[in-house]
Amino acid sequence: MPLPVRTVPTTPFEGQKPGTSGLRKRVVVFQQDRYTENFVQAIFTAMPAPGPRGATLVVGGDGRYFMTEAVQKIVRIGAANGVARFIIGQNGILSTPAASALIRSRQADGGIILTASHNPGGPQNDFGIKYNTRNGGPAPESVTDAIYEATCTISEYVEADLGAPIDLATIGTQSFDGLEVEVVDSVEDYVALTKSIFDLELIRSFCAANPKFTMLFDALNGVTGPYGRRIFVDELGFPESSLDQCTPLEDFGGSHPDPNLTYAHKLVERVASEKVALGAASDGDGDRNMVLSHDWFVTPSDSVALIAHHAAACIPYFKRNGINGLARSMPTSCAIDRVAAAKGLPVFEVPTGWKFFGNLMDAGRLSICGEESFGTGSDHIREKDGIWAVVAWLNIIAHVNQTTPGASVRSIMLDFFKAYGRNYFTRYDYEEVDADGAAKMMARLRALAAGEDGGLVGRSYSGYTVAKVDDFEYTDPVDQSVSSKQGLRIIFADSSRIIFRLSGTGSEGATVRIYIERYDPMQFELDTQAALKPLVHAALDISQLEAYTGRKDPTVIT
Ligand code: G6P
Ligand code: ZN
Repeated sequence: MPLPVRTVPTTPFEGQKPGTSGLRKRVVVFQQDRYTENFVQAIFTAMPAPGPRGATLVVGGDGRYFMTEAVQKIVRIGAANGVARFIIGQNGILSTPAASALIRSRQADGGIILTASHNPGGPQNDFGIKYNTRNGGPAPESVTDAIYEATCTISEYVEADLGAPIDLATIGTQSFDGLEVEVVDSVEDYVALTKSIFDLELIRSFCAANPKFTMLFDALNGVTGPYGRRIFVDELGFPESSLDQCTPLEDFGGSHPDPNLTYAHKLVERVASEKVALGAASDGDGDRNMVLSHDWFVTPSDSVALIAHHAAACIPYFKRNGINGLARSMPTSCAIDRVAAAKGLPVFEVPTGWKFFGNLMDAGRLSICGEESFGTGSDHIREKDGIWAVVAWLNIIAHVNQTTPGASVRSIMLDFFKAYGRNYFTRYDYEEVDADGAAKMMARLRALAAGEDGGLVGRSYSGYTVAKVDDFEYTDPVDQSVSSKQGLRIIFADSSRIIFRLSGTGSEGATVRIYIERYDPMQFELDTQAALKPLVHAALDISQLEAYTGRKDPTVIT
């Protein structure tokens, strides 16, 4: 007997427009009657050909509040839309990279990831739903536009009656007429993938021979706790005390699960006071990472460049496959461009958003990429991957120590700068500012870029002369799709840059981001904020940020 299906009349909700990484709203918004159902139905309505009928979908999320309820709704609505198989992480848990890996390894037709990434969780905070396509990556704009379109015209959704909620705790397959629901171990496949990429044996022997090399991994109470335990403790032999906040909590312990110097302050303090050799953190859903040591903070733009520099020499995955190309998002510092130039590799500059890397990877043109927003990864999956970045660093440290015993995060970075020079980089965030003021500020910058009021080119600020101004536009070299208005770029004669963007991931008001970069070929140990101060002044002067937003100081500096 086919599963009984119920058709529920509904009307559209405003604003169900997926942003950079899916639909993110407050939990209470998702809890409104039919709100979540509408959006989930819209995903199935808009699913790329051949659509949901007979499809296999991966489902899981970062463990935040409302996740398991959403999983149950997705299964009911998906079943009624003809989905044949759901592969779900145990208790609904899958990190974003693990979900991407699973979509690929099981050749699923896509996946639905339940996360608001690094945004706080719990009843008063955020939830999110994101659709990933067959390649394991976030849906491209054509698909998210179609989802949005479906949310605007929806008049009914369908849901199957499964009798009782799916048992998400028990690993194994539950069969219904026309539907199989397979609950899988959340970490197993991911650990297997990690083992195939890195030289874990080299890391293990390095750690065993260097007990003073200490590590501290902070999952910020997010989803990577179980992944970190399996890899760092079980596989690599670090003591249990190398883990902190590694049990996923629905509200992330009330904190902001974002690995940066502001929100991961507990890690930063412990790494400093305990003189930890490698400190690392990941965000709520496990795709971001931060790497530091007691005597160095690795800015993400440097991290990806450093990994790109060493990868082919010591990471088995790249030794086997070679490196096809490198890439960064536009606001990310140009350090990786220098590595690409030195190694004769192509380098791509894409808009902010991991999805832009996917096409290049699928076309075999890109192997390693990263973003200043604490995202680093490679073509092993189609999401950025927090644990991957940390293991990459361990692999590189172990490798460099073979020829340079005692090499540390700091010495490895300084050697890198000796070879390439240093791109000093900082980002100022002004979170939850008045959306109207922020929009007006950007509009004025656009007008200046277009030459109004005499434009900016040729003018000097704090001794830096503007050479070029534009609103970044990207033409995807694979499918020729064009993404315009991706951020205001002011490029100075000495290659320093100031970039202004509005965040695409905030859930309240607007977030203004200012990115500042300056290249120094000689001095590698200046204080970053001191090195960039004149350019910060220039940025505030050019944008008139305070006048437009009423904000004097940023909420976060990274
Ligand atoms: C998410 C995306 C990234 C992006 C980051 C910041 O993590 O996956 O690709 O860089 O958000 O985006 P935003 O629009 O808030 O600057
Ligand atoms: Zn994330």
